[in-house]
Amino acid sequence: MPPFERHIFVCINRRVDGHPRGCCASKGGADVAQALKIAAYNAGLKGRVRVNKAMCLDACELGASAVVYPEGYWYGGLTIDDVDEIVETTLVRGEPIERLLVKHDDEATT
Ligand code: FES
Repeated sequence: MPPFERHIFVCINRRVDGHPRGCCASKGGADVAQALKIAAYNAGLKGRVRVNKAMCLDACELGASAVVYPEGYWYGGLTIDDVDEIVETTLVRGEPIERLLVKHDDEATT
């Protein structure tokens, strides 16, 4: 099997209630991952794009979080309402969705 053109890893990590960092599970991460899997399949991406559930991506405060490779787009605040756009824009065309992109602390400009 050839390598996948693209991977998206969606955090489904769960922490105990009240944890200061929160978690993507409490923000619908598992629902987003499942909806992405179905939407990618329905878009004919099976064998080209892989949707994987992931444990903590260390972007907990920004969840539900996901990262797309090889481009390295980091998305945050995801809901199932974002799924169709992610499939069409990012998984099919490889383009970022600006409103979903998040920056990490080490990328901040001064
Ligand atoms: S719990 Fe999802 S990024 Fe940490």
